Amino acid sequence: MTTLTTEQQESLITAARRASQNAYAPYSHFRVGAAILLDNGQVFAGCNVENVSYGLTNCAERSAIFAAVAAVGAAMKIRAVAVVNDRNVACSPCGACRQVIAEFGPQADIFYLGPNGMQRSTVRELLPDCFTSDSLG
Ligand code: THU
Repeated sequence: MTTLTTEQQESLITAARRASQNAYAPYSHFRVGAAILLDNGQVFAGCNVENVSYGLTNCAERSAIFAAVAAVGAAMKIRAVAVVNDRNVACSPCGACRQVIAEFGPQADIFYLGPNGMQRSTVRELLPDCFTSDSLG
């Protein structure tokens, strides 16, 4: 899979920023936006949606992925993911989101804010030796 052009990266980050404006984060006050680029070029975005029962919170990444599955079906493949937050602090996808990204984008590039600004990584790097359907036989 070829790496994204600078324009593709920027437009994915812009889509993530736009989605973060719709975040529902009255408990953490930490607004997150994510956007995913599919193999077919389509982009889907999501934001975090919290709940008074805190554990029911959905992260921005999973919101974007679930929206994409609902719209185009589970055969979709994620080529890249971008994650941003309104505080511009370092924030990589949580463990649960890494596992869900791996499900639909085992080769995906992941762009997120690291300690030195936006950085690129891969699911393999962020979730080494992860659980896959291979284990199910
Ligand atoms: N959150 C995300 O949406 N994505 C991340 O990558 C990290 C955390 C959300 C979950 C919760 O609503 C808030 O950020 C604080 O944890």
